[in-house]
Amino acid sequence: MKINKKLNLEKLPTHIAFIIDGNGRWAKKRELPRSMGHKAGMQTVMTTVQHAFDLGIKVVSIYAFSTENWNRPKKEVDYLFELFEQYIKTDMQKLYDQNVKLMVMGDYTKFPKSLADSIAKAIEDTKDHTGPILNLGLNYGSQDEIVRAVNHIIQDGQQSVTKEIFTSYLYTKDLPPLDFIIRTSGELRLSNFMLWQAAYSEFLFPKLHWPDFKEKQLEKALIAFQKRNRRFGAIKESK
Ligand code: FPP
Repeated sequence: MKINKKLNLEKLPTHIAFIIDGNGRWAKKRELPRSMGHKAGMQTVMTTVQHAFDLGIKVVSIYAFSTENWNRPKKEVDYLFELFEQYIKTDMQKLYDQNVKLMVMGDYTKFPKSLADSIAKAIEDTKDHTGPILNLGLNYGSQDEIVRAVNHIIQDGQQSVTKEIFTSYLYTKDLPPLDFIIRTSGELRLSNFMLWQAAYSEFLFPKLHWPDFKEKQLEKALIAFQKRNRRFGAIKESK
């Protein structure tokens, strides 16, 4: 595949994240059931993540299932679990063969046992992989993550913490800073996703529904990222 000439492969973000949104609306537009939107969304996860790794991005985080998603109809939640299991057990094999390491943020042990077991197995099987990292948010909520960190800090008897110590209690403790968050479908919010980690992230909110966010759209998003002037609270030095 020809890569967009405007994309500078030397200046890629290290860690990008996707808030997958619009699977339902994508299906509705086509008069399909919502499940078909999720199925198409899963296909897009596969192609877009593969493309991100092929371009040279080191870490991709994905908001796959939030702590709030349990409030959807049971039928939809069950279907998502089926899709996840198939993805983790079968479709992801190609990524594992490329030395990709799977990490998870969120309490996936609350998922049905066979899904939770296959997630645990994939994490264990890839723990020594040294290639790119796919970090999935599964039963993830940022506020839960922060409260969990505080409780662990208390249990460890810490009297006070620094930013660095606090960060070391998060699911993402071993990951580089989050450079870029993309949320599809035009909604302008974070919805309880990586609130701490997003402190200095850049944001993009493309209008496309997630199933339509393909390789070319990823490249365009990365070009937009490369135009941003990231100052991290400092001022740009004048020469
Ligand atoms: C948002 O669309 C999507 C979800 C709630 C989760 C579905 C996620 C996947 C199928 C991919 C998961 C990826 C991995 C790697 C396990 P929506 O249903 O909220 O769309 P809508 O707002 O248009 O209804």
